[in-house]
Formats: sequence, structure tokens, C-alpha cells
Amino acid sequence: MSTDLRTPKSILVTGGAGFIGSAFIRLLFRDKSFTGRVTNLDALTYAGNLENLAGHVDESRYTFVKADLRDMKAVEAAVEAHAIDCIVHFAAESHVDRSIHGPRDFIETNVLGTFNLLEAVRARPAIHFHHVSTDEVYGSLGDTGLFTESTPYDPRSPYSSSKAASDHLVSAYHHTYGLSTTLSNCSNNYGPHHFPEKLIPLMILNCFEGKPLPIYGDGGNVRDWLYVDDHAEAVWLVVRRGRSGQSYNVGGKCEKKNVEVVHALIDTVARLTQRPRADFEKLITYVKDRPGHDRRYAIDCSKIERELGWAPRHDFTRGLADTVRWYLDNPKWIANVKSGAYRTWLDQNYAGR
Ligand code: NAD
Ligand code: TYD
Repeated sequence: MSTDLRTPKSILVTGGAGFIGSAFIRLLFRDKSFTGRVTNLDALTYAGNLENLAGHVDESRYTFVKADLRDMKAVEAAVEAHAIDCIVHFAAESHVDRSIHGPRDFIETNVLGTFNLLEAVRARPAIHFHHVSTDEVYGSLGDTGLFTESTPYDPRSPYSSSKAASDHLVSAYHHTYGLSTTLSNCSNNYGPHHFPEKLIPLMILNCFEGKPLPIYGDGGNVRDWLYVDDHAEAVWLVVRRGRSGQSYNVGGKCEKKNVEVVHALIDTVARLTQRPRADFEKLITYVKDRPGHDRRYAIDCSKIERELGWAPRHDFTRGLADTVRWYLDNPKWIANVKSGAYRTWLDQNYAGR
């Protein structure tokens, strides 16, 4: 199998207070072979939550920098102050529905923010830059087929088009300026610490609270689900062993219709709370479809399996059970998140759907 091409000593993680970025930082501090420093640059938007890292970092090797990627001076200062030799870029506006209601933040953070980071690297070309992206850049599949790394980009929401634009910038900076870059395009993640606006955490919390479970359209849209820690492991492998200039697809080999996901969740919540399924089934509510709703995503991840020896380690049943258990065990996290922007935004945008 491949060996390390890079051994970063001082990593700048952007968006490390978010769902996947925090899983990545927790992984770094679990990995005994990593003895370097981590600087977490995050603007702490509605989706950023430092509680996601509490108790999981070695404070002597960790710094938090509250800064906005749109602020070039702040980006430069963080890179300079911490002698960064590797950037792992998670920070983004990440929710498709929000991008439909207000695309500007997506363009500014996802495109301009990535551009600012790349400019900082262009001035310091010893830095390796890893860009975390999504399978949504490839567009929507019919009933068959899989996205490969050579599938042409065809983004269809403001979110996915902003991610596609940032991916193209990364590729351009590699080819034009010779920067050392890698890119990963991952399918839908789920797991603990997931902000409850996305399908799985929203449905879990609504089950707990006896609120409607809103399924968009006919519920037949298909996503390929991956447990968040498997994604974090894939990113860490690509950072160390991925070939510069290459992109790697990451997926769970776990295609499910949304309606199947909701039923699997109901099974899990009913089992873990020892309540009848019917209590939750009656909450299922079919609502108006998302505009431009992509029908199916599915990933061919054979390249990262073959080249880097990665494979998803959590199966969906176990991953869902671990996830539901985490939300059951963390009412304080839920209360804190809900006291913020989450309910207000959902209520304003989804009332009556
Ligand atoms: P998230 O919304 O949970 O977290 C995003 C983080 O970025 C937050 O901590 C937020 O405060 C921070 N942030 C946002 N704007 C910022 C700015 N201007 N400056 C600095 N920090 C800012 O997102 P996530 O689900 O953890 O996704 C992380 C990355 O992974 C994103 O790039 C996303 O496109 C990609 N991705 C996500 C999924 C998924 O299923 N969630 C799948 C594939 C790829
Ligand atoms: P989401 O978690 O928003 O991720 P993405 O849009 O990036 O795939 O949505 C996953 C799927 O679930 C998507 O097909 C939209 C659907 N969905 C619902 O049916 N109801 C909901 O309340 C949400 C948030 C999503």
C-alpha cells in the first residue's frame, strides 16, 4: 500500500468547529502518530460550535482563531503566525436549502474564501492545500451509474455551484502556479454533532419532540450515506498520501431513498427509546419538493480504495444507532444549538410546507 508523501507539523483546519471539520480535529488528536500542531480557523457561524471539540483536543498543541475566510488579512495572519505547512479546508456554507433562500453567503464564503486561502498558499508554496468538497458538483444521476473522478461537473444548486467553482480554483492554482493540492469529493455524511437542519439530525430531533418529519416531494430521492468518522479518515489519508493535483471520490456504498432513511431512523429511535414505531410513523409528512431537487447521487470510490487503501468502516445500521444514541445522550448540546439560529430559520422558511 502507499506510504506517506507528507508529514504535516502545523495544520490549519478551516471550519473545525463544524460537523465534519470537528470530526477531523478529533481524529487528529486520537491519532498517536500525529504529534504536530492544529490551528482551527472558524468564523463560528450558526453552524460552528466549539462544544464539538470540548475535551477532544490537546490544548498544548491546539489554537483556535475566530476569523472569517472572507477577510484576507485575517487568513494571512493565521497562516503566518502559526508557521502553517498544511491547510485542510472544510469551512463552507453547506446547506442546499439555505443556498436556495440566500445564495450570496455561499458565493462569498465558498468561492471568495477558498480564493483567499489559495492566495495565501501562492505566497507560501511550501504549504500543502487539501480542499474538502462534495459529490454534488457532479449533478444528478438517473436510476443507474456512479460518479467517478472524471464525471464532468454539472452543479445544479447555488451550494453545489459554489463548491464546483472552488474546486476549479484549486485545480487552476495547481496547474498554473504549481501549488501542492489535493481534493476530495464526498457523499452525504451523517453522525454525531450534525447541525439539525440536514435530513438525519432534523428527523432525529423531530422524533424526540413529536414534530412532523417533513419528506420533500415523493421521498424517492437517493443519497449515498457515509458515517462522518469514515470521511475524516479518508481526508487524513489523502492529506498524507494523495498525489498532488489529484481528486479522490469518497462514498459510503450505501445508497438509500430518503423515505428508506426515515423508516430506518424510526426503527432505531423506537428501539433505543423503547417506544412503539407507530408513535413516530404518524409524524411522517410529505411536503412541497425542494426547487431543482437532485434526484440521485452515488459514488464510485474505487480510486481511493485502490490507491490509498481506504474503505468505509461503519455500516448504516450501526452508524445510525451510534448517531441516535449520541443525540439521546447529549440534551445539553441540543438545547444550546436550538437556542441559536436553527429553529427560527426553519420556522420562517418551512412553516406550512
Ligand atoms: P458545517 O456547516 O457543519 O460547518 C461549516 C463550518 O464552517 C462551521 O464551523 C462554520 O462556522 C464555518 N464557516 C462558515 N463560513 C465561514 C467563513 N466565512 N469563515 C470561516 N469559517 C466559516 O459543514 P460540514 O457539514 O461540516 O461540511 C464541511 C465541508 O464538507 C464543507 O466544505 C462541505 O461542502 C463539505 N461536505 C459536506 C458534506 C455533508 O454531508 N455535510 C458532504 C460532502 C462534503
Ligand atoms: P440534506 O441533508 O439537506 O443534504 P443534501 O441536500 O446536501 O443531499 O438532504 C438530504 C436529502 O433529504 C435530500 O434529498 C433532501 C431531503 N430532505 C427532506 O426530504 N426533508 C428535509 O427536511 C431535509 C432537510 C432534507
